[in-house]
Amino acid sequence: MGRKSVRAKEKKQKRQEERAAMAAVCAKVQAANQLGDPLGAFPAFKKFDRNGLNLSIECCRVSHLDEKTIDWAFELTKTNMQLLYEQSEWGWKEREKREELTDERAWYLIARDELAAPVALVHFRFDVECGDEVLYCYEVQLETRVRRKGVGKFLVQILQLMANSTQMKKVVLTVFKHNHGAYQFFRDALQFEIDETSPSVSGCCSDDCTYEILSRRTKFGDTPHSHTGHCAGCCH
Ligand SMILES: CC(C)(COP(=O)(O)OP(=O)(O)OC[C@H]1O[C@@H](n2cnc3c(N)ncnc32)[C@H](O)[C@@H]1OP(=O)(O)O)[C@@H](O)C(=O)NCCC(=O)NCCS
Repeated sequence: MGRKSVRAKEKKQKRQEERAAMAAVCAKVQAANQLGDPLGAFPAFKKFDRNGLNLSIECCRVSHLDEKTIDWAFELTKTNMQLLYEQSEWGWKEREKREELTDERAWYLIARDELAAPVALVHFRFDVECGDEVLYCYEVQLETRVRRKGVGKFLVQILQLMANSTQMKKVVLTVFKHNHGAYQFFRDALQFEIDETSPSVSGCCSDDCTYEILSRRTKFGDTPHSHTGHCAGCCH
């Protein structure tokens, strides 16, 4: 009896601790989402002026993007990704992709040239993944003409800065293994690691899974991971 009640007390305390930890995680995500401009703290990163490009970079929620820019974002994503999706177990689902791009939680980095034409985008969200506060990068898409000039690297560096400044634990993204250029970009050039939730590590899917989940920890993600929230793994 005595033992059981001690165990029950311990369990209750653990549950309370987990709830408090989760509340703290959610509070951080909420605070990040309430920022007017997460890029505001880094004015030096609002310009990309090298390798023959002179781009200005803005950061805003999807609700602040005009219809023309949203249509451009969708068309560029479709041009760059449709075939890769069709070669995966996911297939290309136009309506779902458009809904994802316009979800009210979506944040964007948009790079524009001197004529204010958009040339690159990042779609990201502040979110909770497996009990961790993370900056999840949904898309990095560049027009062909601005590739291999350091723009992609610059934009992902901005994500890393914003993840640090909002106390997220890591920057996370999904990449198709058959998207060889992007895979090399993230894994080799930007040193993203295969995340513990990735199918190849978690073993939740078969070996022929066509994608990996990659991540890079911030200074707040250094401590060993402890799952405080339910993790649906990669198959959600
Ligand atoms: C992947 C992508 C975002 C990279 O952006 P980028 O601005 O062209 O890349 P950067 O110039 O910053 O490249 C930095 C380094 O990454 C590596 N890299 C980038 N693209 C690469 C490619 N296609 N193949 C091999 N390595 C590549 C190189 O090491 C490069 O350095 P280097 O040019 O000095 O050799 C861009 O090519 C793109 O938008 N592709 C189409 C959409 C896409 O696949 N998005 C990713 C979805 S997960």
